[in-house]
Amino acid sequence: MKLDIVVNAKKYSLEINPTIRLLDILRDHLNLTGAKEGCGEGECGACTVIMNGKTVNSCLVMASQINGKNIQTIEGLQNNGKMDRLQEKFVEHGAIQCGFCTPGMIMSSKALLRENSDPDDEAIKRGIEGNLCRCSGYVQILNAVKDASKTK
Ligand code: FES
Ligand code: FES
Repeated sequence: MKLDIVVNAKKYSLEINPTIRLLDILRDHLNLTGAKEGCGEGECGACTVIMNGKTVNSCLVMASQINGKNIQTIEGLQNNGKMDRLQEKFVEHGAIQCGFCTPGMIMSSKALLRENSDPDDEAIKRGIEGNLCRCSGYVQILNAVKDASKTK
């Protein structure tokens, strides 16, 4: 199928098998390797990206579902080489251990902060409930998101 998508504000036209997953399009066709494959079954959130404003598990989204869609990945958060404030706060708070969950955590947190600029602890927990961290540094992640929400 012919696929027209916008990824990180850049237009792409691809000729692609409709059963290819969005995660593979990003990683293998667009060389955007920030989104990770953990479970490949919609359970871990490592592959989270934002599509038309909502988070999706890119391992569960097929090419046939994304024509005309606007997608943002972790690579799209930087501005002229400067990290987004959420990224800065993750670094500042040591909210990254092995880093495998981090792109997905940050994209879920980004979507949360766009909808709720001042989330309490419970709202943050709900916002990242689909993202698992096998290193279990959840306290630092929570603090990083809270701090980012205060840095307007
Ligand atoms: Fe997509 Fe785990 S790799 S949810
Ligand atoms: Fe290792 Fe979260 S930092 S999985």
